Amino acid sequence: MFFVNGAKELATDFPSRPPMETIHTVAWMKQVAAEARQNGQILGLVPTMGALHEGHLSLVRVAQQRCSPIVVSIFVNPKQFGPTEDFQKYPRTLDADRALLEKLGADYLFAPRADEMYPAGFRTAVVVEELGERLEGRSRPGHFRGVTTVVLKLLEVVQPRLAFFGRKDAQQVRIIPEIVVLPIVREVDGLALSSRNAYLNAGERAAATVLYRSLEAARREIAAGERDAAHLLQEVHRVIDSEPNLALDYAEIVDADTFEPVLSLRNTCYALIAARIGATRLIDNALIEPAGQSFEVTL
Ligand code: PAJ
Repeated sequence: MFFVNGAKELATDFPSRPPMETIHTVAWMKQVAAEARQNGQILGLVPTMGALHEGHLSLVRVAQQRCSPIVVSIFVNPKQFGPTEDFQKYPRTLDADRALLEKLGADYLFAPRADEMYPAGFRTAVVVEELGERLEGRSRPGHFRGVTTVVLKLLEVVQPRLAFFGRKDAQQVRIIPEIVVLPIVREVDGLALSSRNAYLNAGERAAATVLYRSLEAARREIAAGERDAAHLLQEVHRVIDSEPNLALDYAEIVDADTFEPVLSLRNTCYALIAARIGATRLIDNALIEPAGQSFEVTL
């Protein structure tokens, strides 16, 4: 145990780690990260757009088990929002986010300004062809180009040993290889945590559970022996249709590797859903993995 200024009370309040440092510039982030690597430390990165919730924090906790120090980035990346999307109104709660990360014991918060990440004259983009054009990519043209571009930049600035992402964004994690993918954190009624849940009014919040309920219905069918994707999707649609407040964008069962639709369950796949509740677009998914004669479905 190490005492700050020899004061025991202080030491209990503030254990031996230094307080979290907030970094706003790419140059300083690069220097701090380079020093950590030179010291042989295992650097971990958790990229986020802030408005942190328990889903984000679950990633931070696992990162802390596997890495030290860890960097959490908060950057509302303009390039991954379409022109009619919610970039302007996306929740920005940096002070509350900082307090949460500090409490958790994160080492660095990297919160660059947009002109740090995209200096004037920035012309480079990363495009993952085909995979980036389906599902989310089709519904949100340019979205994955923005995601892959910013994630490559973050990886290049921090150069972590490991980077941590949630399975909530299943297609995002397929497009960015070599990362640690962690489970979806849900509310008690099943709604996947999302920074965008803050947009929902009470009625919409209640309706939003239909995404989870429709995936649950597919899980029940699979447990009962159903393997046909069209039948499973029929069941998903049946539940979705019971909710008048919702406009379905897509519901598909796709191979987990190619993200191409499958006819029947065989290899690992995802059931993916995207829907609009009022003005709010939400996504959810279930991971479907072969397990002996049967399939294990993880929501
Ligand atoms: P954001 O939506 O803030 O999510 C940051 C990370 O938290 C992602 O890896 C996402 O999958 C994970 N996450 C979100 N909700 C979750 C939940 N309910 N359970 C578990 N994990 C969850 O995804 C992005 O930001 C951006 O696209 C980013 C990768 C930061 C690039 O800008």
